[in-house]
Amino acid sequence: ASYETIIVETRGKVGLITLNRPKALNALNSQLVGEVNAVLDGFDKDPAIGCVVITGSEKAFAAGADILEMKDKTYPESYLEDFITAWDRVAQRRKPIIAAVAGFALGGGCELAMMCDFILAADTAKFGQPEIKLGVMPGAGGTQRLTRFVGKSKAMEMCLTGRMMDAAEAERVGLVSRVVPAADLVEEAVKVASQIADMSMPTVMMTKESVNRSYETTLAEGIRFERRVFHAMFAMADQKEGMAAFAEKRKPGFKNR
Ligand code: HXC
Repeated sequence: ASYETIIVETRGKVGLITLNRPKALNALNSQLVGEVNAVLDGFDKDPAIGCVVITGSEKAFAAGADILEMKDKTYPESYLEDFITAWDRVAQRRKPIIAAVAGFALGGGCELAMMCDFILAADTAKFGQPEIKLGVMPGAGGTQRLTRFVGKSKAMEMCLTGRMMDAAEAERVGLVSRVVPAADLVEEAVKVASQIADMSMPTVMMTKESVNRSYETTLAEGIRFERRVFHAMFAMADQKEGMAAFAEKRKPGFKNR
């Protein structure tokens, strides 16, 4: 398949999606979101892919939803088409997705990054929810996910003022897992993704599912979920292989079963 708003590559077992609307700083229009979802559908089904990286350009991961596309939308139109809900499919994926963010991640761009499993940031990254300046508020999870990442005070300030957070602040408050030099960003993200892709795939996917449960349930129920899945892992050949390899001082060869 060929795409107009993204570039799709594979690097070993890693699927790499580069958002590519340079003239609009990768503003997220419906075509781009549709193309990203189509590619993620394929990656989720493809046993040769173990982890996905979504990145943008040096200047922008994505400067938000496409303001020109949405500016004349009416309330009934946005309700009937369920505007933005399709984006959330990024957060429903079963294989891990890393957001590699350089430059602006604003509005829907910040929200897209937060839908991924973790964010690696270049030292040039800038995160913000500037929707308030456009007379609206975040609509793709920003008021909810940013608050869970950085706490109420910073989330509230950012959503109410549109202030941007630089990479150092984003790392300090836990919005991003790590900051790397901009020149190394994609290479580093692909390296981390390759490490994940070399693990047992069912174990990786169950681990992602378990971490994500912590956002949806109480501590006791989350721990119960973790324990059930943990016990189930002892039914997998990959658990035997992983622990045997340690005991035999060799590298494990996981078979995804
Ligand atoms: C459409 C956009 C855009 C956007 C930038 N562009 N952001 N087009 N939608 N979100 C376009 C500009 O119009 C311009 O096109 C080109 O990209 C380059 O942008 P400049 O503004 O010239 O670049 P610069 O001066 O470097 O400023 C960068 C910027 C600024 C600070 C990121 O572009 C900006 O403030 N953008 C809007 C950010 C924003 O408000 N995002 C939230 C969107 S609302 P031309 O044709 O003039 O060259 C949102 C709602 C989410 O995301 C709710 C649900 C998803």
